[in-house]
Amino acid sequence: MTDVVRVEDLRRTFRTGAIEVQAVRGVSFAVTEGAMVAIMGPSGSGKTTLMNMLGCLDRPTGGHYFLGGEDVARKGDDALARIRNRRIGFIFQSYNLLPALNALENVELPLVYRGLAAGERHLLAAQALSEVGLGRLTSFRPYELSGGQQQRVAIARALAGTPDLLLADEPTGNLDSASGEEVLDLFLELHRGGRTLIIVTHDEQVALHCERIIRLRDGEVLLDQPVDARQRRTKGDLGSRAVAP
Ligand SMILES: Nc1ncnc2c1ncn2[C@@H]1O[C@H](COP(=O)(O)OP(=O)(O)OP(=O)(O)O)[C@@H](O)[C@H]1O
Ligand SMILES: [Mg+2]
Repeated sequence: MTDVVRVEDLRRTFRTGAIEVQAVRGVSFAVTEGAMVAIMGPSGSGKTTLMNMLGCLDRPTGGHYFLGGEDVARKGDDALARIRNRRIGFIFQSYNLLPALNALENVELPLVYRGLAAGERHLLAAQALSEVGLGRLTSFRPYELSGGQQQRVAIARALAGTPDLLLADEPTGNLDSASGEEVLDLFLELHRGGRTLIIVTHDEQVALHCERIIRLRDGEVLLDQPVDARQRRTKGDLGSRAVAP
């Protein structure tokens, strides 16, 4: 199996004046193509710092990060921006949609940066919105959509560029349990479709949808274990009923 992600002794130290915080201190793991992995750990354990490096939003201060075999840890800003745009789909807790744009335009935005022609952009964005079950809501603005629908637009935006890797930082953190379940069901579908997913969560029930849980503490890997098949959550298994769009 190909490793989509491999980090070796990855480190990130923040310096603010005389104060030094070692947010990530020597983390190593690999994620194979098609895997669905949860990253857990208490507040301040380095989850977001790690995800930002995996998503090429930030650079490590030490160690290696191989994305699809290529060492990206020391790339310049422009190269990282290109890698982000083409190879990574990022999903944030707060959706990060632009309020003035409708769903289709939000999903298209990364493709605009990529320089695709309008016709191709519309097509790819419309396909991605259909894939997340929002094919009929393409002209809706974020404020006209529920939280769960907004997060699905954000997932469509992440998918539209056919990334190698989907990263989600607390994707259900702002959602009620029914909407959270919709989003998790969607992640399970994407996983079944062969996508590679890494999901940061505080919620053990969310993590149990994944095949494997990496637990961080104080910037280090405390535990890295597969989820027992008997404990694994499947579709519609958060204990509440999913709501149709
Ligand atoms: N830009 C920064 N400058 C200085 N310190 C930072 C910065 N970003 C994170 N840190 C510190 O690094 C440590 C890890 O933070 P991080 O945000 O990665 O934790 P987290 O596991 O995502 O926490 P949470 O569960 O609360 O989101 C914390 O001590 C935090 O204060
Ligand atoms: Mg965080």
